[in-house]
Amino acid sequence: MIRSLLLCFVGLLALHQSNAIANDIIWPKPIVSPASTSKAVSDLISRVLDDALSASFFQISIKANLSVNGKDVFELSNGSTPGSILISASTGVAAAWAFNYYLKYIADSSFYWSGKNIRISNRTLFPISKPIRIVANDLYRWYGNPCTFSYSAVFWNFSRWEKEIDWMAMNGINLVYATTGMEYIYNKVFLRMGFPQSELDDYFTGPAFLAWFRMGNLQKHAGPLSNSWHQSQFQLAKQIIQRMTDIGMIPVLPTFTGFMPRTAPSRFPSAKFYYSSDWVGFGCNESCLPYLDPTDPFFQKVGVELLNETITLLNLTSHYYACDLFNEMTPPISDLEYLADVNAGIIQVMQTVDPNAIWVMQAWLFLSNFWTADRVKSYLSKVPIGHLILLDLFSEAIPQYSRFESFYGHYYIWNMLHDFGGNNFLFGSLVNVTNGPQAARNFSGDHMIGVGITMEGINQNEIMYEFALEQSWRSPLNEIELNDWLVGFVMRRYIGDPQVPSSALYAWQLLGNSVYQKNLYGDRSIMLSRPGLYREQDINFDIKSLLLAWELLVDASNEIDSDLFRYDLVDITKEVLQYKFLSVYTQFMSAYNQSDLYGVSTQAAILVDILSDTELVLASDRRFLLGNWIRDALQFAKTEESIHFYNFNAKLQVSIWGNNYTLDLYDYANKFWSGMIQNYYAQRWYVFFDVVIQSLIQGHPIDSNLLGERLFLEAELPFFMLDIKNYPTNTQGDSIMIVHQLFNKYHLSFNDIYFKEKSTRKTFSFKYHFD
Ligand SMILES: *[C@@H]1O[C@H](CO)[C@@H](O)[C@H](O)[C@H]1NC(C)=O
Ligand SMILES: *[C@@H]1O[C@H](CO)[C@@H](O)[C@H](O)[C@H]1NC(C)=O
Ligand SMILES: *[C@@H]1O[C@H](CO)[C@@H](O)[C@H](O)[C@H]1NC(C)=O
Ligand SMILES: *[C@@H]1O[C@H](CO)[C@@H](O)[C@H](O)[C@H]1NC(C)=O
Ligand SMILES: *[C@@H]1O[C@H](CO)[C@@H](O)[C@H](O)[C@H]1NC(C)=O
Ligand SMILES: *[C@@H]1O[C@H](CO)[C@@H](O)[C@H](O)[C@H]1NC(C)=O
Ligand SMILES: *[C@@H]1O[C@H](CO)[C@@H](O)[C@H](O)[C@H]1NC(C)=O
Ligand SMILES: *[C@@H]1O[C@H](CO)[C@@H](O)[C@H](O)[C@H]1NC(C)=O
Ligand SMILES: *[C@@H]1O[C@H](CO)[C@@H](O)[C@H](O)[C@H]1NC(C)=O
Ligand SMILES: *[C@@H]1O[C@H](CO)[C@@H](O)[C@H](O)[C@H]1NC(C)=O
Ligand SMILES: *[C@@H]1O[C@H](CO)[C@@H](O)[C@H](O)[C@H]1NC(C)=O
Repeated sequence: MIRSLLLCFVGLLALHQSNAIANDIIWPKPIVSPASTSKAVSDLISRVLDDALSASFFQISIKANLSVNGKDVFELSNGSTPGSILISASTGVAAAWAFNYYLKYIADSSFYWSGKNIRISNRTLFPISKPIRIVANDLYRWYGNPCTFSYSAVFWNFSRWEKEIDWMAMNGINLVYATTGMEYIYNKVFLRMGFPQSELDDYFTGPAFLAWFRMGNLQKHAGPLSNSWHQSQFQLAKQIIQRMTDIGMIPVLPTFTGFMPRTAPSRFPSAKFYYSSDWVGFGCNESCLPYLDPTDPFFQKVGVELLNETITLLNLTSHYYACDLFNEMTPPISDLEYLADVNAGIIQVMQTVDPNAIWVMQAWLFLSNFWTADRVKSYLSKVPIGHLILLDLFSEAIPQYSRFESFYGHYYIWNMLHDFGGNNFLFGSLVNVTNGPQAARNFSGDHMIGVGITMEGINQNEIMYEFALEQSWRSPLNEIELNDWLVGFVMRRYIGDPQVPSSALYAWQLLGNSVYQKNLYGDRSIMLSRPGLYREQDINFDIKSLLLAWELLVDASNEIDSDLFRYDLVDITKEVLQYKFLSVYTQFMSAYNQSDLYGVSTQAAILVDILSDTELVLASDRRFLLGNWIRDALQFAKTEESIHFYNFNAKLQVSIWGNNYTLDLYDYANKFWSGMIQNYYAQRWYVFFDVVIQSLIQGHPIDSNLLGERLFLEAELPFFMLDIKNYPTNTQGDSIMIVHQLFNKYHLSFNDIYFKEKSTRKTFSFKYHFD
């Protein structure tokens, strides 16, 4: 009796101490019931294993008390019955994470955006030779950039969302934006406030541009949103949130930023409004939105009503809220006290509705020169510590935490941004990604609370995302360990029957030490850029490594023929072709410099041929089809008229983006996709060659305005505006045969090519204008 009392006392003491160490911040946890969470995890496993019988051999045990200082923990061991596997985990997400760990490190399998390589048989699981226990390094794993939901997810239905949520959970993601459907709610509340629908139709952008609408950069562009869109998105939002909460993921809900329809200032004359800047030159018909001053009492009224409605309609209080004012725009007043009061106003809305509110804010705005240390410090000063999480957005390249003393006592998540615009060329920096999170922990101690991914678009460079999220449980890898990791990556990705040839392993080690070594930004391909004279393209690695990797993978294709291998083979082949294009383009320019009409024509013919070969190889793989993007968009078209609307939205985003070809965002979201090459990029090159050859024949210089207009009228406009042809969603030809043909055709020509590494980029150049 006395002994057990003593034990109890000691236990309490220990508990008390660990609380004191844990910095007094109590972060809200997802609300879950272990029973429904286990079911959500089992369902996920069944989906990933295609309903194999063996899926039922996983025993799931959710035990919140497994966690260490609030951090997720999972354990894997043999289960209680022969042939079963026991997953014990602190949360549902940790259990799904454990399952993926099992897939990767016990079953040599993998699960990606592009597909999966599952090596678990229908009837048996691999046993665990030694129990495994993994403790997360930090509290959170984050997913998402506002742009991800436009560049990648905008046209997803629930079955595609389900797959993504599975992927997220399997990679440990426990915190994620849930902004889908917010326009439905805003539309409802603004109608109630007296705005007629016509004014709201003049406000919302088209579906493909909602990210920038949400951030207050754009209005109206490619809009309006239809009632059927609103309905579909709201239904989808409920399904997404349900699935996220079932598995223990925290959805981060949108809150009021202040942006309102352009008629708001005249409807509410006593409220204080400012205007956002003319973003990237869109002009004030589509930019320059009015926004309510967060220090104005009316901001509280509108903000509370919107948030209350959001929580009510979604039937959810996750306690985490997203809000980004001043994204790529300069505050109207630089006074320190004012900047502090702005955020006091924003957090007050959240706290009125939900006293436990945590604000999740991107630190992206701080990249603008406006944000000096004293301004940032003041801006963050009136948000209570423990109620704000900053997303350091591009930490692998330009981390902000080190510039601002770890955000002055607040907490932040280290994120790899990696990709802009959903571009799908090959690039990344494994070195920066493995060292970055630990460097942040070293610098900021327990104020660094997570690792995340903030890509603008997915479906590219899968290696970077798998690797980044592994940094949330491993220690940084040195050079030798990194090479071993690459071998494991290839094994999981390709292994099957027969085994993976060493040429494939060596190919990926070469890529890891070139394309993926210190190639943080890559560079935009000339092939996909608007044709012009003297275009430049950076090269940040030794192209010879890429060419050799290509040769090795082509060689490996004699021995392996799996789905993910084919994807990679096509991916690298198109990459080699774009460098070939660059090199021939240089010869083309050099012939032009010498007014060599014959040389120009010859090189132009070769460039045309490379374009058609690129189209050919991309068309052979389902992951490189414009047709898929269009098909997904057209799911939402319920009328004849809206077919044109969704076509236009989908194609405008991946082509000229803006309302005029003179704007900077031109081709920002370019894609190596079959359909884009043939019907967009190649069409432009034909016009360009014509203009160049005409100018040489007629002996007059090229009029760049005229060139611009011709490109627009003859190639670009027809693509995004007029053409509503059906792009195939099925593939043509056999990738491996096509790649072999292209290899035979091109590989010798690379012997004579010398690619100099050159980087003109001194510092990160902003894609946007800040004024
Ligand atoms: C695997 O098991 C499931 C469930 O028992 C069964 O429906 C399916 O036919 C099996 N598939 C194969 C390939 O044996
Ligand atoms: C953790 O919780 C489980 C029930 O979920 C309980 O059986 C176990 O004893 C607890 N362990 C500790 C160390 O408190
Ligand atoms: C798990 O089961 C396998 C096969 O039954 C056995 O060889 C292995 O030793 C077991 N692992 C542990 C940790 O007991
Ligand atoms: C959902 O989208 C996927 C592609 O992302 C498509 O294959 C599937 O057919 C769609 N499902 C429905 C019910 O439309
Ligand atoms: C802005 O919209 C008005 C009214 O629709 C139109 O007359 C004007 O031409 C537009 N301006 C630009 C620059 O597009
Ligand atoms: C709202 O959620 C609660 C549980 O969180 C549930 O019991 C209730 O049925 C839900 N209400 C509606 C209308 O879906
Ligand atoms: C939210 O709305 C409900 C009615 O829909 C109301 O009862 C409640 O007071 C509102 N909460 C706040 C904080 O305004
Ligand atoms: C990224 O790597 C480069 C070297 O390639 C290094 O100079 C730079 O400091 C690294 N940046 C970060 C944020 O780790
Ligand atoms: C973090 O600090 C440890 C201990 O000082 C050091 O050994 C390690 O190299 C640092 N890691 C990084 C990535 O800076
Ligand atoms: C062509 O001439 C321009 C300027 O006259 C020069 O910058 C460029 O390097 C030359 N290009 C080639 C490929 O010779
Ligand atoms: C597009 O830009 C051109 C050139 O700057 C300009 O002349 C034209 O008026 C612009 N068109 C629109 C619709 O803004």
